[in-house]
Amino acid sequence: MHPVSHAEEHQGTRRDFIYYATAGAGAVATGAAVWPLVNQMNPSADVKALASIRVDVSGVEPGTQLTVLWQGKPVFIRARTQSEIDAARAVDVATLPDQNAENENLGGEAPATDENRALTEDGVWLVQMGVCTHLGCVPLGESGDFGGWFCPCHGSHYDTAGRIRKGPAPRNLPVPVAEFVDATTIKLG
Ligand code: FES
Repeated sequence: MHPVSHAEEHQGTRRDFIYYATAGAGAVATGAAVWPLVNQMNPSADVKALASIRVDVSGVEPGTQLTVLWQGKPVFIRARTQSEIDAARAVDVATLPDQNAENENLGGEAPATDENRALTEDGVWLVQMGVCTHLGCVPLGESGDFGGWFCPCHGSHYDTAGRIRKGPAPRNLPVPVAEFVDATTIKLG
């Protein structure tokens, strides 16, 4: 099955769900290659290790999000506006339902500050799995009570750092292993 049609079917009509289809065609193709595996089962460690992709983010303007399919799952790559960053940084971690950063790049006990969630020190780039931690729907961007993401399946609201704030989802959206390998390229995995 083609991954795009599957994803559309999975998450319904979403205006902000875009695939990188120009210079990033390789990234989508990589996603396609692993899709049948991860659609059926959890990928084994060796599949995970092989499946790293590079994403060209040169076209992502502040206030927009790129969604790529990686290891069979959507990954949200967002260039945040200053107001999104400010809102996320103003939150007291002690008030959060999930106080763990849920960031694979950090240790397991890192607190859920915005600084521990963002990919870059300036806070602009946020990379996270686009999979609701409740039952796995794909949340909508720029939505919900906290201006971040909203999962319409059962009403989970995530903030502009992807942290769960309200609703049944138990955890923040996971931040995968990611890094900038040059000025405009993010490597996932
Ligand atoms: S799957 Fe997202 S709220 Fe249930």
